[in-house]
Amino acid sequence: MDKLIITGGTQLSGELRISGAKNAALPIMAATLLCEQPVSIGNIPHLHDITTTMQLLGQMGIQLTIDEKMNIEVVSSTITKYEAPYDLVKTMRASILVLGPLLARFGEAHVSLPGGCAIGTRPVDIHLDSLIKMGADIRVEAGYIHAKTRRLQGCRLVLDKVTVTGTENLLMAATLAEGTTIIENAAKEPEVSDLAHFLNEMGAKISGIDTDILTIEGVEKLAAKDIHYDILPDRIETGTYLVAAAITRGKVKLKDTRPDILDAVLDKLKEAGADITTGKDWIQLDMHGKQPKAVNIRTAPYPAFPTDMQAQFTAMNSVAEGVGIITETVFENRFMHVQEMQRMGADIQLESNTAICKGSEGLTGAPVMATDLRASASLVLAGLVATGDTLVDRIYHIDRGYDHIEEKLAQLGATIRRIPK
Ligand code: EPZ
Repeated sequence: MDKLIITGGTQLSGELRISGAKNAALPIMAATLLCEQPVSIGNIPHLHDITTTMQLLGQMGIQLTIDEKMNIEVVSSTITKYEAPYDLVKTMRASILVLGPLLARFGEAHVSLPGGCAIGTRPVDIHLDSLIKMGADIRVEAGYIHAKTRRLQGCRLVLDKVTVTGTENLLMAATLAEGTTIIENAAKEPEVSDLAHFLNEMGAKISGIDTDILTIEGVEKLAAKDIHYDILPDRIETGTYLVAAAITRGKVKLKDTRPDILDAVLDKLKEAGADITTGKDWIQLDMHGKQPKAVNIRTAPYPAFPTDMQAQFTAMNSVAEGVGIITETVFENRFMHVQEMQRMGADIQLESNTAICKGSEGLTGAPVMATDLRASASLVLAGLVATGDTLVDRIYHIDRGYDHIEEKLAQLGATIRRIPK
């Protein structure tokens, strides 16, 4: 397995282009199953999860071509089977996102039940219960979800919890259902809105976008011609590089991004003492060489502070001035980065779903192990500011969600390199 070795101590500075959002690209690529015409998607990030999604669609018989600018052309009319096999789903839980589109377009789907992962049990009960309410016949057998329907029926769905991929699966399913579907307590993450805009481009009739009540008027088919859609920028990649600059007391300018979908994160960085300026598609952060101040964080669904930025702020709090309290309310086990940071000298006390971080002047480099996507990124951030070398193992987690992380950080002056297995 590849490893990353980081030598800490450099104040990051420079400019960086942000890639397209992984968590928008995955549902939008699944949504191409709904369209009878070829569809072209741009600003696709160069990530392992994208490759997995292309494999997932390809093994169904879907035709995919990708060009050097990472535009993907998808032709779903060549589909030969309606299955998401275990060997692919086990590497990427988001494969569950083909369930809604397959059911809606073809009336059949056989999707391996996504297991839990390091951060939690990650059930999909809300996805399944809601599709049953829409008239699907669903059987879970030998680890697979077997779903069938003559045609999904529109209805009112009130989701028990705010679920991002749950909302996305149901949104896609409802586009071709008979009648109108109302999804209440829908997730409002920008990636959900990006999917909704893409679906409307293909001819869907969705209203209430950006709110927690989505109304979808079912149509017979989605067959718009010459569709090209560019994925929105990745707000979590943006936040991660902003924290990389903050933790090293540096200055960065991030381009091709969107400050308007990161308010909660930008507010917390300002509270930590960062000088932030923004434009329509860029964000600049300058610490003026100062140590960040500790901040208190409580994660919650959008527009509150995103759980996907929690680990990065835990790293920053570990070297900040003062005590920062971080409460994780979305996932039950999303502090695995803490024990790895403690091995680097971080003073963090865990109490149930809260981490109490006492900032210290410095961390010491050490061999550490990545456990999940954002935890891995936070260990790299800690390594940027630790004295000496930090060796991050199992970085396949990072490659799932960060496009060329070592190149981008090196562009900002970091001393970081990949050690192939
Ligand atoms: C999405 O996961 C993201 N993944 C996650 O990003 C992100 O952390 C998460 O949303 C929260 O923002 C993608 O978009 C591909 P949820 P998702 O359903 O949809 C419970 C990353 O780092 N729940 O919103 O799987 C669940 O257990 C990844 O890029 C049910 O109980 O998360 C959790 O406690 C990690 N039943 C809460 O809801 C269900 O049927 C929120 O989960 C569904 C969810």
